[in-house]
Amino acid sequence: MTKLKWGMIGGGEGSQIGPAHRLGSQADGLFSFEAGALDVDAAKGRAYAQSLGIAADRAYGDWKEMLAGERGRDDKVDLVTVATPNNTHFEITKSFLEAGFHVLCEKPMTMTVEEGEEIVRVAKASGKTCAVNYCYSAYPMVRQMKAMVAAGELGAIRTVVANFSHGHHAAGDDADNPRVRWRYDPAQAGVSGQMADCGIHALHMASFITGDEVEKLSADFASTVKGRVLEDDAMVNFRTMKGTVGRLWTSTIALGRQHGLDIAIYGEKGGMRWASEQPNQIIYNRLGARTEIIEKGEAGLSEDAQRMSRVAIAHPEGFPLAVANIYVDLAAKIRGEGKGNLPTAEDGLRSMAAVFAAVDSASKDGAWVDARPPMFR
Ligand code: NAI
Repeated sequence: MTKLKWGMIGGGEGSQIGPAHRLGSQADGLFSFEAGALDVDAAKGRAYAQSLGIAADRAYGDWKEMLAGERGRDDKVDLVTVATPNNTHFEITKSFLEAGFHVLCEKPMTMTVEEGEEIVRVAKASGKTCAVNYCYSAYPMVRQMKAMVAAGELGAIRTVVANFSHGHHAAGDDADNPRVRWRYDPAQAGVSGQMADCGIHALHMASFITGDEVEKLSADFASTVKGRVLEDDAMVNFRTMKGTVGRLWTSTIALGRQHGLDIAIYGEKGGMRWASEQPNQIIYNRLGARTEIIEKGEAGLSEDAQRMSRVAIAHPEGFPLAVANIYVDLAAKIRGEGKGNLPTAEDGLRSMAAVFAAVDSASKDGAWVDARPPMFR
């Protein structure tokens, strides 16, 4: 099978998410890395792209140069990954979709709800795929949880408790670190800090696993490090369309917590928990029975959980392979072979609506507000 051609914008040398995209896109031999505008510094971006094997004429100085260069080529890239800071996602994603490229955009997809709705419209009109990198939904055991909920093994879902709380921005004297600074700068991050950065991953997981959507929420935001404008800690209560009670805690100042993404689903017949730092296991309790551990790779898992797993039972299978699973589903979608469980522009839009609802609610002392995008009400 011919490989699809892939390009990336952002994700330059030393970036946080760039390596995961490079490893993920290359893991299954589905994409060849052909073009990039990898850095905000044009010279550094060109040099780094070439050091990764990109031809000099496709090692671009910025995304506009890449758009102009790629759209005229017979061998143009099929898929563009947008892995730049948040404030650039909308413009880049929209421009590439309109020019006929498939796009994988990092989260948060946009800075506003209106921009999110525009991306949904543009993606639909273009007929191209626009996916958003909610990569934690592509861990095999998260797919297993989704399948178990869909099969009714937990009964009706009563409560979802999700955390994405780490302690890596707890140091006040680290405020000038360029990788930290933009996350709390409204001009670059948007109206929200940690809720938009990590909270939306946990919220997406809650929706993804339960097959349900957030309807309304009540939020409490705090900026605990002196001088920080945007929130670095948030507690969000939510209700889903099916009436499930949701709790979300997201924080960057929880010293001692490392990655800190975990989720628990409690239904009428059972409960289960999963944590990104122990991604191969689900802790499962049926009502009235002893605790079970469901292990990645063992017999009887869902078809999707098996499909998303590459290495044998007990071998750790981590973050880059979860990102690779997003690329597996993208390749299938681009080739017209099925959708898989790809996070879409609609999911990106729902996250933005939830972020804006949380900001609004927090400014009103936790008043309950509608969290649905106007387009979906
Ligand atoms: P970072 O600050 O570590 O790296 C950003 C990279 O983008 C740098 O190489 C920088 O030079 C480059 N860049 C900045 N502006 C650019 C432009 N206009 N054109 C081309 N390159 C440009 O940021 P990080 O942490 O890698 O985050 C990037 C995006 O990925 C953010 O939107 C973030 O929210 C998202 N992210 C997603 C994760 C996930 O789990 N899905 C995890 C970490 C980040």
